[in-house]
Amino acid sequence: MAGQADSKGPTGPICEVIAIDGPAASGKGTLARKLAHIFDFAHLDTGTLYRAVGLAVIARGHDPSDAADAEAAARALKLEDTQKPEIRGDEAAQAASKVAVIPGVRAALLDFQRQFAANPPGGKAGAVLDGRDIGTVICPDATSKLYVTASVEARAERRWKELRSRGIESTVPAVLADLKERDARDSQRTVAPLSVASGAFVLDTSGMTPDEVLAKAVDYIELCRSAL
Ligand code: DC
Repeated sequence: MAGQADSKGPTGPICEVIAIDGPAASGKGTLARKLAHIFDFAHLDTGTLYRAVGLAVIARGHDPSDAADAEAAARALKLEDTQKPEIRGDEAAQAASKVAVIPGVRAALLDFQRQFAANPPGGKAGAVLDGRDIGTVICPDATSKLYVTASVEARAERRWKELRSRGIESTVPAVLADLKERDARDSQRTVAPLSVASGAFVLDTSGMTPDEVLAKAVDYIELCRSAL
């Protein structure tokens, strides 16, 4: 990745890291944003890196599954590429899941993520990173590790409502099929598959309100912080 996280340098203070992993539409992104706000930490949605790489490959008229093209796009990626509105669409999501299985893509994005965690931008005292391999590969020594999940049916229902609120036409069965396909690819790939990190607090959000999820996560994080 071309840009680097804003750095306080190698001698900066040791930062707190909240690592959040989980499948698509589990609510981990919303939770990560809220936690970053509460603790005044920097937040990195690592899915946007893979989405931007996927879209960059498509923009060049290539296939996101092509390893050489995807790796070149990952190496050339700039942070502003992750801020385009189309990043949130389904095409970006599917392309992200395809480029994410390519080892060279993951390697090209690794340093940026670790730099962000070690030197959070804006002089923040800590960072929240959410994705699929944060607690397992990117930050295995994170202060707190959460694995946020929900049944695939609950996730499909939530994602469908979210799409509808953004004026995007879809159906629950179509969203369900898309999530199942992505779940399978994300958890069955050989490099950094989605899995529960050792020591992670598993939060099954099926049937929980967003406020209940947040309260449980904050309790757990406070417990981890008190042990520092
Ligand atoms: O969290 P998301 O839906 O924005 O992620 C899009 C895809 O990117 C997801 O299907 C898998 C991939 N991804 C990954 O492999 N590792 C991460 N840390 C984040 C996302």
